[in-house]
Amino acid sequence: MPDRQSVMWSRITGEPVKMGSLYVTERNARFQYTPDFVASGLPGFSLVYPPRIYAERPVVYRQPGMLHPRIQALIPPAGAQNFQRKMLLGILRARGQTPAPGIDEDWALLMLAGHGGIGHIDVFADDDEARSWYADMQPAPLMPVSDSLGSTLRDLMTWLDVDTANLLRTLGPTPTVGGAIPKMLLSIPATGWNGEISTPRKGNDPGRIDIVLKFEPSHAYPGMTEIESLAYTMHAEAGFDVPRHWRCRIGGMPAIAIERFDRDANGLPLPLESCFAVLAAGAADINTHIDGSYERIARAIDTPSLQLVGNRREAKQHLFRRVVMALLTGNGDLHLGNLSIRGWGEGAHFSPVYDPTPMRAYSRHNMLCPIPFGDYGDYHRGGRHITGLGEALINFAHNLGLQQQKAWQYVSGLLQLTADYPERIDALETLPGEHKERLKAIARKMHTALSSFVAS
Ligand SMILES: Nc1ncnc2c1ncn2[C@@H]1O[C@H](COP(=O)(O)OP(=O)(O)OP(=O)(O)O)[C@@H](O)[C@H]1O
Ligand SMILES: [Mg+2]
Repeated sequence: MPDRQSVMWSRITGEPVKMGSLYVTERNARFQYTPDFVASGLPGFSLVYPPRIYAERPVVYRQPGMLHPRIQALIPPAGAQNFQRKMLLGILRARGQTPAPGIDEDWALLMLAGHGGIGHIDVFADDDEARSWYADMQPAPLMPVSDSLGSTLRDLMTWLDVDTANLLRTLGPTPTVGGAIPKMLLSIPATGWNGEISTPRKGNDPGRIDIVLKFEPSHAYPGMTEIESLAYTMHAEAGFDVPRHWRCRIGGMPAIAIERFDRDANGLPLPLESCFAVLAAGAADINTHIDGSYERIARAIDTPSLQLVGNRREAKQHLFRRVVMALLTGNGDLHLGNLSIRGWGEGAHFSPVYDPTPMRAYSRHNMLCPIPFGDYGDYHRGGRHITGLGEALINFAHNLGLQQQKAWQYVSGLLQLTADYPERIDALETLPGEHKERLKAIARKMHTALSSFVAS
């Protein structure tokens, strides 16, 4: 494998600055901050690798053929059915590039689309490419999601490898975003969805906001955008910060436009890093979004030498409440990629809620929780019986340093707020009856179980 080199920049202050260089060899990946960037006091490319501590020492990631997890997050996940990846590979093909699967393909995708994505870091082949990308700050004009674009998207959704030409002619390559559900990063009018779209902003344009547009794969997950929307509403009622969102239809397909919270009011990027990127950077046993446990997140938050969040106590309370809310709403999908930290230094905290969709409505996703907590379903500390849900929540609260009384107060509050969930599920218009019944049954069962623990 040839050695590779690229550069990382950021426009976090509004003025593009070079952060450093990335070198990848057969043995490892190394990132090195520039002296000017170290002196700037700005946040590094990951919370785990602060320039204050690393200075100009190389940040080495020792998994051959892989990039630092925060950098890997700029590339849509491998997988034959990943829409974002297919679309970008289509662009490469159109340019005569067909890299071999594996690191070659990842690298080509990183060079093509590793900029303008989620968070504040932008990767380019070299400094000239960075400068020319930032030089063109002028936002592309807004244009209606025309029927033809809509139908191209629908074709893409159906076949995934049809010609992407129409889409690309209209928008050009848009930056990339991870996750399993087909989605695109776009901008829309600041007043909200009106059917007009453009590429994401690169600078300040007060008339626009940036969005993640997620399409509903209606065959596999009918009604998904509607239950994602309901879950946002319920999390907002429970006091969580949630982004604005709009349900819409594109070329006949249901979709949901969600305002991006990794951009500030002036369009400047804010650091946003998933708990997966944080944990995988330092632990060899964290390789997928469902490895580890919620306690591992709490332990990382508590690590004295690492500042992940400004307020550790508040972060752990948030984590507890998110897990309980996920249980009560039948989310079943609160994995390490669906929890992120936004900001840096004292200003870092868990991000607003995203991807709260109650996936347990669909039988293939019907699991209580994708990652463990409080030894649920396992032996607790060498004990002889399997830990039940109530006991697991007590253990979890204890492991987070929460008093049991406080934890039960949180649970009671969320029980009250979700009491009418089954009726709200019933009132949905696009979620088919079979899925409504499954989700209602799960919600009722969880409500009864948690109510009885709190009462006992
Ligand atoms: N409103 C938002 N603002 C900023 N970033 C966002 C927002 N919504 C999603 N993201 C980012 O995009 C990624 C993918 O979004 P999301 O989790 O909604 O997709 P998904 O395909 O449903 O994911 P999964 O693989 O968990 O099913 C998230 O992990 C997060 O990094
Ligand atoms: Mg997700």
